[in-house]
Amino acid sequence: MSENQYDLAIIGGGPGGYHAAIRTAQYGAKVALIEKDKLGGTCLNWGCIPTKALYASAHLVEKIKEAHEFGIEISEYNLDFAKAVERKNKIVEELVGGIEQLEKAWKNDVYKGHGKIIGGDINIGFEVSVEGENNAVIKAKRVIIATGSSPALIPAFNIDHERILTSDDILHPDFKTVPKRLLIIGAGVIGCEFANIFTRFGSKVSILEYLPSAIATEEPMIVKVLMKKFEKLGIELYASQNVLSVENTGSGVKATTCDASIPRDQTDSAEKSIYEADLCLVSIGRAKTSKDLGLETLSIETDRGAIKVNNDTLETSVKGIYAIGDVTGGLMLAHVASYEGDIAVANALASIGGFPVNDMKTDYTVVPATIFTSPNIGSVGYRRKVAKDMGIDVLMGQFPYQSLGKAKCMGEEEGFIMVLADKNTHKIIGASCIGTEAPELISEIALAMQHGLTIHDVAETIHSHPTISEMVLEGSESVVGKAIHKKGRPIHH
Ligand code: NAI
Repeated sequence: MSENQYDLAIIGGGPGGYHAAIRTAQYGAKVALIEKDKLGGTCLNWGCIPTKALYASAHLVEKIKEAHEFGIEISEYNLDFAKAVERKNKIVEELVGGIEQLEKAWKNDVYKGHGKIIGGDINIGFEVSVEGENNAVIKAKRVIIATGSSPALIPAFNIDHERILTSDDILHPDFKTVPKRLLIIGAGVIGCEFANIFTRFGSKVSILEYLPSAIATEEPMIVKVLMKKFEKLGIELYASQNVLSVENTGSGVKATTCDASIPRDQTDSAEKSIYEADLCLVSIGRAKTSKDLGLETLSIETDRGAIKVNNDTLETSVKGIYAIGDVTGGLMLAHVASYEGDIAVANALASIGGFPVNDMKTDYTVVPATIFTSPNIGSVGYRRKVAKDMGIDVLMGQFPYQSLGKAKCMGEEEGFIMVLADKNTHKIIGASCIGTEAPELISEIALAMQHGLTIHDVAETIHSHPTISEMVLEGSESVVGKAIHKKGRPIHH
């Protein structure tokens, strides 16, 4: 194969693309990875990792405040947000450097620049141009598009990246000041995670949300626990707010809202509310990065910016071109993008032939999701209402952290786990958890679900004592009335 000739070209080096490139190399195929910014994409540079680094600092503040309960008097401490940001920047740099090293170790060619499909088909292969730090035209038998997403922008919100910010702005390596008052628009995952972080660093946080509740995708009982905590921390959530405009006033920001129930064509005459702060973070979802990729050249179909794919194979409307991750508009999660990378690589290489891999189909039944507020949230599988609406006869068990020895020792008594099983088969169909290590606990349930295990399979597994993992044990046992540390109904057969 000549220098610019590849089995696979991957456009976008986030958790979808960089993962797919390494997987391709593991199968012995030749891959070109094209990235215009830094490897690691949103997750490593502007999302999961930097927020979790800041979360760790925020969590430490929380623990310092509770230290006296553990017999430790900390009379004085200083919050140095700039230092927390520098720590965050260093973590990001190290991880991005690690990915660069891994691609190098696999001898994957990384092109720095904007990738665009310029022609070809599945029989003759495709041509992809790269423009930027590297300029090239590369040839590849198959292409995977993994260009991700960016913060959604609404003109009326006047995002100026100065006082009215996106999550990219607030995670910028040079953003080092804590606003006295922070107004957040959108009480979704990003909004709630930042509300938690900045409150701990001393901001007075208010959130405006269009829907009647925050994080509408999670179990209402879980959200209730989080809202109680937000209230305790002084975070104000204003739900059912239609944000009509946001302005930079020079000295701060001003948002104008009306009740979300008022029809859109009557908002002019509606009663308005005004919210003021020093800075505003707009976190109302993300837009797919599908512009200027050459999609029109080959007539690759899109739907409102999302690249349309065959849900099983992840192939686009053009044979030989696949799309994965946020740009497809599916579940916008880093681990879903990586998983989809595995599927697309397998299907692309199987269609070329000669590599040790067969076709694969996607399966989204078991997708864990996490929210790093304090307490943490983790969930997987069905929510209770969805399962009931689907006609599944649901058995539910719950177990509170306050009844768990290890949680008490750690001073982490907030929250509970909820485990759902099918009444007929006792197979686990979902779980939601709010409390310490909830995202880690959910991984055990995900493994159980992936392999069709019942609550009895989990309950019969010896869990080390004393550990937080016993939440999964007791939560599963409680589905059939067998939890030892909780008075419940008699055993259900
Ligand atoms: P989101 O979809 O989670 O939440 C956006 C919120 O904004 C929703 O509650 C929505 O009702 C509200 N909203 C939309 N338009 C509005 C308006 N005009 N006025 C007021 N409220 C409005 O989106 P978010 O938080 O921006 O996150 C983007 C993606 O990133 C999500 O898919 C999320 O799952 C992912 N993510 C995942 C994380 C994790 O796994 N821990 C962390 C952060 C983000």
